[in-house]
Amino acid sequence: MKLLSEYRDHASALPNRIVMSPMTRLRSHPDGSPTADVADYYAQRAAAGLIVTEGIWPHSTGQSEAWVPGLQTGRHIDAWRRVTEAVHARGGRIVAQLMHGGRKGHPLARIDGSWPTGPSSVVDADRPHLLDGTKADPITPGAFEHAEIAVVVGHYAVAAANAIAAGFDGVEIHGANSHLPHQFLADNTNLRTDEYGGSIENRMRAPLAIVDAVTAAIGSRLTAIRLSPGNPQFNMVEADPAPLYRALLAELDRRDLAYLHLTDNDDYPALADLRPRWRGTLIANIGENRRPTSAHDAEAVLGLGRADLVSFGRAFIANPDLVERITHELPLASIREDLLYGRDAAGYSDYPRWAAGAVRCA
Ligand SMILES: Cc1cc2nc3c(=O)[nH]c(=O)nc-3n(C[C@H](O)[C@H](O)[C@H](O)COP(=O)(O)O)c2cc1C
Repeated sequence: MKLLSEYRDHASALPNRIVMSPMTRLRSHPDGSPTADVADYYAQRAAAGLIVTEGIWPHSTGQSEAWVPGLQTGRHIDAWRRVTEAVHARGGRIVAQLMHGGRKGHPLARIDGSWPTGPSSVVDADRPHLLDGTKADPITPGAFEHAEIAVVVGHYAVAAANAIAAGFDGVEIHGANSHLPHQFLADNTNLRTDEYGGSIENRMRAPLAIVDAVTAAIGSRLTAIRLSPGNPQFNMVEADPAPLYRALLAELDRRDLAYLHLTDNDDYPALADLRPRWRGTLIANIGENRRPTSAHDAEAVLGLGRADLVSFGRAFIANPDLVERITHELPLASIREDLLYGRDAAGYSDYPRWAAGAVRCA
């Protein structure tokens, strides 16, 4: 199986091509520090070729929901260091996903009570989890003043440096699935008339500034980005993704990043269109808006040469020993959707490893 073969590029070596996809789990302390359960959870999954953490806010003004972790303060760095050490002790590799909510969020979901702000003042229909345990009704976000964009870009650079201080093996900028860079790229969330809106060149400006700031802080070989071209999920509208993402990849490809993490979807075949335009390492995600990624589907993508690695999301939640199960062709346990966003170990770090007859099989 190609999925189980070693992967090497000029900077890294991974024991297999199975990546744990980033998944928000809302298991942090209210201040954004990951709990001890978080260290257990990722350490249990350390056999992955690479783990990408759940989205982490670079700054409290980018917090999208309550209990999402942060990478802004010394407390955050110390708490994340316990996570990276636990993963490294098991021989794993882990990168931090920097997730800025932009227009997403709510003052009652945030440790600083700030009002969400994005490229433009366009309401998001998503209902974030609040600190009191309820879900918010949509509110109207603010729009960044021109000078505020450089400040937010700077937040990413500081958080990236914090990630390396916490022992992460790199940083993935979350430019997918409706988060801040995606809000600059998409049609419906960027109505700006300054140099950050309008033309393709302008809409790419803030995402590229973020990449360049992170690269300047930690180096291009520790910097990666996730993109979801044309993904209609989460109220995003991208009428004509091909020219935009081709232009963006032409810029990114020159920057010699650690990898590109690309989600495929039925509306726009991103992998088929963009793989030939990316010379570096490419991680594919093929499960957005589809059934959970299976080893069979992943192997097919690798066989077509559409990616070097494949990320697994939901299967990794329910199967801490996913790599072992794929290796030995063992059945996979089913996910407990009702426990995705709990406060404790239930449905998180309490999924058992394989034991014949002891798991519910999908
Ligand atoms: C509970 C949950 C939380 C998620 N949170 C994030 C996130 O924080 N960042 C991100 O880029 N994608 C997030 N995703 C998307 C996954 O990374 C992945 O792309 C998606 O689950 C499809 O892959 P799968 O079919 O293997 O599950 C999340 C998905 C789930 C199910």
